[in-house]
Amino acid sequence: MTDRAIVTGGAGFIGSHVVDSLLSDGYAVTVVDDLSSGSEERVPAAAELRTVDIVDLPALQKVFDDVAPQAIYHLAAQASVVASVADPGRDCDVNVRGTLNVLELAGRAGAPVVFTSTGGALYGDEAPRPTPEDRIPAPLSPYGASKWAAEAYVRTWSLSSSIPHAVCRLGNVYGPRQSPHGEAGVVAIFTGHLNEGRTPTLYGHGQPTRDYIYVSDVVSALRTASGRSGVYNIATGVETDVMGIWKGLCAAAGIELEPQLADLRPGELQHSCLDISRAEAELGWRPQVPIEEGLVLTYRALTEEFKDS
Ligand SMILES: NC(=O)c1ccc[n+]([C@@H]2O[C@H](COP(=O)([O-])OP(=O)(O)OC[C@H]3O[C@@H](n4cnc5c(N)ncnc54)[C@H](O)[C@@H]3O)[C@@H](O)[C@H]2O)c1
Repeated sequence: MTDRAIVTGGAGFIGSHVVDSLLSDGYAVTVVDDLSSGSEERVPAAAELRTVDIVDLPALQKVFDDVAPQAIYHLAAQASVVASVADPGRDCDVNVRGTLNVLELAGRAGAPVVFTSTGGALYGDEAPRPTPEDRIPAPLSPYGASKWAAEAYVRTWSLSSSIPHAVCRLGNVYGPRQSPHGEAGVVAIFTGHLNEGRTPTLYGHGQPTRDYIYVSDVVSALRTASGRSGVYNIATGVETDVMGIWKGLCAAAGIELEPQLADLRPGELQHSCLDISRAEAELGWRPQVPIEEGLVLTYRALTEEFKDS
């Protein structure tokens, strides 16, 4: 009999890659997405799309009853820091209440959940780098707070039931299908600039660092974490500054363009880098795509996507 999986947020950037991976392993996949930032075109024809808001428990329950999933990948989220500041109530509804809804229904189905949290927005500027999972979070935004609260539910539900649920705290994910119109995602944003010959502004004078991870490495981590309980940083442990990202993309494009430099915007993190030794030791997972290679792959893929859009 075919294995069945639900991917919430499967019409989004990362979720759509999870869907591809599950389909290629023979799963029957149902995507739950309200299409608020995702798009129908990202969902392959082989997957079923149910346009449902995860906050709407009866509608979500109907999907779970119909599918009876054996695995759940919970990526649907209000994922914008700016939107979380503008409307912390909705951010809390989606990220906390929505996650609780998914956990409750997963419990009835007896299926494990993999929850995507954030490494970057959770630990704050004071944390040692690379930051291990046992560092007490100090989020600077409602988005970080709601992800942390949702993590608590995931861990509590895992401990109080016989179903193992996992929390994956992602670094800065980049790759094909990332939107160039988001507030983060500098790889996609800069690729958009290069395609249009526009000069980008590098805040913090190009010096802020992040732990960038290629999307296929995130997918392999989420797949490996299914059926495990625990909290895992999923990143590379390598810090790259924004100027390095810009230069890597310019090299991939064969273009030389001097960026504008500006001060860091209020509330933005200076540096972030995650310790991935727990995921390596406990999950036997390790990222495979170095940043230089990932930037070239992403530049080429996004340039093709932008032509088609
Ligand atoms: N991209 C990153 O660098 C990054 C880093 C850390 C954590 N994450 C987390 O990974 C997950 C996926 O992120 P992404 O970058 O693919 O973002 P995305 O915005 O592309 O995907 C999120 C998806 O969730 C859907 N969604 C939003 N609210 C919903 C709701 N109420 N009901 C149903 N669907 C809803 C959106 O339509 C979208 O398709 C999110 O949970 C995000 O917080 C992403």
